[in-house]
Amino acid sequence: MALPTINPTTTKAWKALQNHYNAIKQFAIKDLFLKEENRADNFKINWEDFYVDFSKNRITEETISLLLELTNQVKLKEAISAYYSGDTINKTEGRAVLHTALRGKETDTVLVDGKNVMPEIFAVKEKMKAFTNTIVDGKRKGYTNKPFTDVVNIGIGGSDLGPAMVVESLQFYKNHLTTHFVSNVDGDHVNEVLKKLNPETTLFVIVSKTFTTQETLSNANTIRKWFLKHGKKEDVAKHFVAVSTNIEKVKAFGIDQDNIFPMWNWVGGRFSLWSAVGLTISLAVGFENFNKLLKGANAMDIHFKNEEFKNNIPVVLALISIWYNNFYGAESEAVIGYSQYLNQFATYLQQGIMESNGKSIDRNGNKVNYQTGTLIWGEPGTNSQHAFFQLIHQGTKLIPADFIGFAESLHGNQEHQDKLISNYIAQTEALLNGKAEAEVLSELKKQNFSEEDIKNLLPFKIFEGNKPTNSIFIKKLTPESLGKLIAMYEHKIFVQGIIWNIYSYDQFGVELGKQLASSILEDIQSKVSKNHDASTQNLLEFFKIFR
Ligand code: F6P
Repeated sequence: MALPTINPTTTKAWKALQNHYNAIKQFAIKDLFLKEENRADNFKINWEDFYVDFSKNRITEETISLLLELTNQVKLKEAISAYYSGDTINKTEGRAVLHTALRGKETDTVLVDGKNVMPEIFAVKEKMKAFTNTIVDGKRKGYTNKPFTDVVNIGIGGSDLGPAMVVESLQFYKNHLTTHFVSNVDGDHVNEVLKKLNPETTLFVIVSKTFTTQETLSNANTIRKWFLKHGKKEDVAKHFVAVSTNIEKVKAFGIDQDNIFPMWNWVGGRFSLWSAVGLTISLAVGFENFNKLLKGANAMDIHFKNEEFKNNIPVVLALISIWYNNFYGAESEAVIGYSQYLNQFATYLQQGIMESNGKSIDRNGNKVNYQTGTLIWGEPGTNSQHAFFQLIHQGTKLIPADFIGFAESLHGNQEHQDKLISNYIAQTEALLNGKAEAEVLSELKKQNFSEEDIKNLLPFKIFEGNKPTNSIFIKKLTPESLGKLIAMYEHKIFVQGIIWNIYSYDQFGVELGKQLASSILEDIQSKVSKNHDASTQNLLEFFKIFR
């Protein structure tokens, strides 16, 4: 089944939402709490180890019911079934979108062009498991017969961000292997990593779906040259493995058939950490933990597929985001993880969300006349409180934020955990309530400020409040709960793409960069510049002088 092609703004629900927005835009969330006795209970979803509180939003029961009506009118249910059944929903690239199958059960049947892909998926998982075990237990050794101590993931975009974020997030569960990530074509990046490595004990995992990406191939070639200063050509097979769909190109690079971990074109780069692209994750935390990550994601897949929309976490979060983006005109969303382990989570989400939904042509091929993809940014709390929270609290922009927290700390330092989580909860409360004039006044009086000073200071110390947040509270950071959390955002992306009537699974905007860079490179290397605008010409001249 093809995806529906409905312009959301032409639906009755959209028009009703527009009228509803005009009616409630002045409402303050704190007043809604006073009016609605059961608000906190009505706007929460308890699911497995997740507690999602979305009551601190500028919404009423009517907002939610109109947004749910919108999902009917854009045929979200039908779209979800096309998504899960292997239909070619990535129409612009002629592919299915089946990262959900990667975390499915062996007994599932998922057909692509009439063929069940589950046996292939499980064969690759078995290969990953066996390989991971021989590296982790030291049975597989390097060219001087020493066990491996370091693993380097060479890849970019989806072949880097997902594995890097998961390895960082699950570092508590890590084994003795030290992991490194080389992504940027900047030679200083690869050299900084190389200087920490011993070639005799380092395993290199080249990850590239296409095996044509300039950054990854340049880094892989540089690393191979460095390796060959120490080891011999026949030692490459012991130290280099690859993950790709392009088996021929991998072999041409000199990698043994046995050392190739295949993937499929129905796995999008930014959704690929669940495939062999996650090999570095498996090496870092062990295959069992990698499998638990997949199991968590599978649980969220089932929740998303079967749960009625009003209790469906990804659907509700997607709808709230549409509400702010398309009716309040909010341009960005912050994601604040109250866990240092989630240090790279927002960076990871930036690719997932912005590469997917940063589109302006709808599924009919027409330019959209409404806003689509949101800007995503964030840093862990409490660090972010001391960086950009000022703007969220008192700036001119509306920034809806997801606050993610884990009740249990992994190292069990309760004193720190209590402080961390008190900040998490206090910030959402402060963003909701703000600080009214009367409160500021009484505070300043208590501090014995003069009448004059009070008058001068008062406006600066007032907080409007009414800043929306979702609180995503999870029992504990485990491979399973992380899998659920990532899958939750993946499905939120899907829902928003369906409502915005865009294709979420291509990335032509990013691919343009690949073409442009190679044409300028030719100019630099040939020393004759082709036709460029004057600014570009000057930049090229400057570079040629100082390079
Ligand atoms: O950045 C564009 C992109 O195509 C991403 O979607 C992908 O994750 C990345 O390049 C890497 O591509 P590959 O895995 O083919 O090297």
